[in-house]
Amino acid sequence: MRLEGKTALITGGGTGIGLEIAKTYAREGAFVYITGRRENRLQEAVEAIGNNAAYVQADVSVKEDMIRTAEKIRAERGSVDIVICNAGVGNYVSLTDVTEKEFDRVMHTNVLGSYFTVQACLPIMNEGSAIILNTSVTASLGLKDFSLYIAAKSAEKSFIHTWTNELRDRRIRVNAIAPGIIPTEAAGKELGRSEEEEIERRAYRATLIPAGRVGHVSDIANAAVYLGSDESSYVNGIELLVDGGLAAIYPVKL
Ligand SMILES: NC(=O)c1ccc[n+]([C@@H]2O[C@H](COP(=O)([O-])OP(=O)(O)OC[C@H]3O[C@@H](n4cnc5c(N)ncnc54)[C@H](OP(=O)(O)O)[C@@H]3O)[C@@H](O)[C@H]2O)c1
Repeated sequence: MRLEGKTALITGGGTGIGLEIAKTYAREGAFVYITGRRENRLQEAVEAIGNNAAYVQADVSVKEDMIRTAEKIRAERGSVDIVICNAGVGNYVSLTDVTEKEFDRVMHTNVLGSYFTVQACLPIMNEGSAIILNTSVTASLGLKDFSLYIAAKSAEKSFIHTWTNELRDRRIRVNAIAPGIIPTEAAGKELGRSEEEEIERRAYRATLIPAGRVGHVSDIANAAVYLGSDESSYVNGIELLVDGGLAAIYPVKL
């Protein structure tokens, strides 16, 4: 019970990495709030997590939605100890093909979303609480056709430094987890590949990663428990790569 008595907000917690973090946090004794746009997925997720969970249907790119989320947490729990900015979207699009609409979708979800999630939660965050950003190993790589997503994740990465300084007087820690390749429902679908293509690509990539496998959502959830718990009370302002060693040996052909 490494998170006993803590309250956590996990944006995008209805699926994938966010859902696994939410399940693991609840098992470790935290009460978790998850957010997302699809209410049916949030309902299913809360049922899967169990007693210590609630959801708020909220679009992370809409500031009022995040203020409403923080108000609900304040009314029900009084405060929040861990804020995990996990909701995110990405897409492979070439520099020449990125439209204004796609630019806004990716930037608004990842960058504006994390920014206003934290801004909305600051009034209810306890001294010594933790912010965890979900960045990406790709923010350290020069992947072709991924400039928009990498720009968004790089902007989120910059918050580690600026917010660590800005929130120092409140002893709020700001860290990030940079996942490597974690097969989730969206990772294949959103990038427009068939299930077969995704499995083949995953098997190939596993051979390139020093750990010998692609990641699992639990790899990220375990890191999130550490960064959210008091075990990491002296860890502040870092990006923890959870990528099986991929970035260390880059460039490899992905
Ligand atoms: N999987 C990987 O290999 C990998 C690697 C590096 C980083 N990441 C990062 O990990 C995070 C989670 O990704 P995932 O792989 O777990 O994919 P996922 O299952 O698609 O998770 C994304 C979640 O974000 C929510 N979301 C998207 N847009 C939103 C919005 N405007 N408002 C509120 N919620 C929104 C989605 O729910 P709704 O659609 O219902 O809103 C969904 O639950 C993302 O930030 C991603 O960039 C993933």
